[in-house]
Amino acid sequence: MSASINNIAREELIDMVPYQSARRLQKADGDASGQSAFNDKIWLNANEASGQGEYNLSADCINRYPDFQPDNLLSAYSEYTGLPTEQLLATRGADEGIELIIRTFCKAYRDSILICPPTYGMYAISAENHGAGIVKVPLINNTLDVDGIVSELDQVNVVFLCSPGNPTGNLLPKAQIKAVLDAAQDKAVVVVDEAYIEFSPQDSVQSWLGDYPNLVVLRTLSKAFALAGLRCGFTLASSEIITLLSKVIAPYPISAPVAEIASQALTGDNLNIMKARVKETNALRAQFIDWLNEQDWVEDVYATDANFVLFRTTLKNEIFDGLKQQGILIRDQSKQLQLNNCLRVSIGNQSEMETLKTSITGLVTTLRSGNTNNTVVGEAN
Ligand SMILES: Cc1ncc(COP(=O)(O)O)c(C=O)c1O
Repeated sequence: MSASINNIAREELIDMVPYQSARRLQKADGDASGQSAFNDKIWLNANEASGQGEYNLSADCINRYPDFQPDNLLSAYSEYTGLPTEQLLATRGADEGIELIIRTFCKAYRDSILICPPTYGMYAISAENHGAGIVKVPLINNTLDVDGIVSELDQVNVVFLCSPGNPTGNLLPKAQIKAVLDAAQDKAVVVVDEAYIEFSPQDSVQSWLGDYPNLVVLRTLSKAFALAGLRCGFTLASSEIITLLSKVIAPYPISAPVAEIASQALTGDNLNIMKARVKETNALRAQFIDWLNEQDWVEDVYATDANFVLFRTTLKNEIFDGLKQQGILIRDQSKQLQLNNCLRVSIGNQSEMETLKTSITGLVTTLRSGNTNNTVVGEAN
């Protein structure tokens, strides 16, 4: 194992043996599992029920515990990414990946993570839950303050970079990510959260994994794959890091039906369906951005490489509340650092986007017609 990763990880994990579930032991013995194996043997080693009895369920073999990392799922994601399965960990969404990284590399009430606000909220929430400190180095013009990050690297164990960023939307410049990785070697693990990378796949930093043993890439099936309800994400890293994370994760994180559905989504024509969805979303996003740019109540439209658009408007409250009353939900991001008066809209289907634009136009027209002295509503504040 790379000495530097060992130095960053919680020391008690280095020699820790993870919980030896019946399924894990059997796998270590070289014994295959999965449906065919379930029919081949008499299974009396895991205190499971021997069958599903008279239940009329659509899933097979769920009387059995699933594999700790189901083969069908890991093989499908390995094929999708071109990475060996030893460099992958399937998790309950990318959110579980975030939590595992913090629990693996930060000792509670001693170690800290670094985040670059405005950014995805779960880095801070997971750190707080674990008792890890949070060092903040804000973005500058939606890009990294590399010098600021580098100056804090001795104080932190994990750096979270979000590219494309949520809620800002844009990719981080690759040269900046590389500069942070170079400076962080032997000091901190650098996580690049690529939850939205399918919307600009050519910009992934996955190919750098071989060069940087301290790089971790987070992915999810919740966005471009349209499977948020499934709860399935992946952590991509060196096999050393994956081994450490595997000691911290629950013994059966991925249920058998989740593994089955996710592996189907990752193979064959379903990948083309995902790519077509991305293309359509990107086209609708471009149309929505054009429309926003034509509106005089919009002050700023953020550049985006993801399936959402962030914009600043003088009518933030009126639009947010008015849409809500009409049953249209968007996200108010104005409480985030640097994002006063900002709203974030996820790109829906064509009809949803048309309804949204019509509703906003109606709201703005009503507001302005009710304004007797002819000033533009919202401009005063
Ligand atoms: C940047 C980012 N990372 C991670 C996640 C979590 O994704 P998952 O649904 O896979 O837990 C989200 C969800 O919105 C996100 O925006």
